Amino acid sequence: MAVRKIVMHPADILEQECKPVDVFDKKLTKLLDDMYDTMIEFDGVGLAAPQINIDKQIAIVDVDDQHGTIELINPEIIESSGTQSGPEGCLSFPGLFGEVTRPYKVKVRAQDRKGRTYELEAEDFLARAIQHEIDHLHGILFTSKVSRYLDENELEELTEE
Ligand code: CO
Repeated sequence: MAVRKIVMHPADILEQECKPVDVFDKKLTKLLDDMYDTMIEFDGVGLAAPQINIDKQIAIVDVDDQHGTIELINPEIIESSGTQSGPEGCLSFPGLFGEVTRPYKVKVRAQDRKGRTYELEAEDFLARAIQHEIDHLHGILFTSKVSRYLDENELEELTEE
């Protein structure tokens, strides 16, 4: 287990399509464990492999204890509905927060660390985090979806929550 270095914007790896995972081995397990350590170290609710300089379709999301850590390998959004708007940030953009509108609910198909396919339904903040991370795997950054950046006062309110 180890904390990896986070790639900061701008960097080519953050804006390219990641490759699908086809080998589910110990190296992948180690990578997922390192991604978890890195996300916790930097206080994130999710992390995508390109953010630690790996161009593979791997992401993790951990928004609360109820849902635990969700490992998304080769994830695909197969259904989405509704809309939600809310503040979003990203470990590759320290201190930057903006309002992003996304579907409220998503159904995702992905593989776990053993290569088993599963489906997951998520809504609200969890759905937002999952969509943010899946976007990373296709080189899409949240800044391309921000309708308005938050100012200092709004940021203060956010961190006081
Ligand atoms: Co991000």
